[in-house]
Amino acid sequence: MTAHSPDYLDIQAEVGITKHLGGFIATDELLALCHVEDAKSVLYVGSGIGVGPAYIARKIGCQVVAVDISEKMLSWTTQRAFEEGVSAKVETRLANVLALPFEDNRFDAVLVESVLAFVEPKEKAILECLRVIRPGGYVGLNEVFWSEQPSPEMIEANRRIQMGIELLTLIEWRNLWQQIPLNDKTIKTYEINLQRETRDRIQWVGRRWIFRAWGRLIKLYFSNPLARRAINSQTKETTQSYKSMGFGLFSGQKI
Ligand SMILES: C[S@@+](CC[C@H](N)C(=O)[O-])C[C@H]1O[C@@H](n2cnc3c(N)ncnc32)[C@H](O)[C@@H]1O
Repeated sequence: MTAHSPDYLDIQAEVGITKHLGGFIATDELLALCHVEDAKSVLYVGSGIGVGPAYIARKIGCQVVAVDISEKMLSWTTQRAFEEGVSAKVETRLANVLALPFEDNRFDAVLVESVLAFVEPKEKAILECLRVIRPGGYVGLNEVFWSEQPSPEMIEANRRIQMGIELLTLIEWRNLWQQIPLNDKTIKTYEINLQRETRDRIQWVGRRWIFRAWGRLIKLYFSNPLARRAINSQTKETTQSYKSMGFGLFSGQKI
């Protein structure tokens, strides 16, 4: 781990836990909105520890290319695909969503779960995802938003978690989605229920992986004072922020 104070995603990569709001239920819904039943090739942007890519490869039986900006996340993804018996169907690539290393029209669908909160400019990222989808294919996002006006302290705390990037309100997301040229556009929004989120997260990561991640978290917490401070403030700040947040599924078909 780096000598500077680790950010939110550094801790997740080190410990081996990533998630998005809504867990498998939200992923299943996004897959349905994106009509991936017959997809042969899906791009999963922001693979995290690889739960999403491995799940899609198993459920749909298609090839999944998983990209992430973090080498560490990609090594978890490779491990996850191996443990789930889908190594042959999951390929990993180090890449930034703002400049994807693929030719135009390559994929049947692109899925992005809880990634754009960390990326600017979001419109450029979405258009880059669209570029690599074949005409008639779908893009699907799962993204968090402010559902009510947050206090200035909450905005500041969240800015730290999002590494300086502002979270959009639902109205801003709606405006952004309206500007993207797509057919069959959908936006579905959900409130955050903390109890349900905890259950969804355990299910998403899986008990065996959670158990191992807890071991790494405890080790990191007691061996690295910078990480300890970051874990303490991030835990408090994310739980606080969730009270003013919701999440949405945004989908549409490339023209
Ligand atoms: C909150 S995690 C979600 C991971 C995964 N989608 C899941 O639901 O478990 C966000 C992921 O996006 C990746 N990420 C952040 N910025 C990115 C970028 N510009 N391009 C590609 N991946 C990025 C992070 O490294 C991290 O793995």
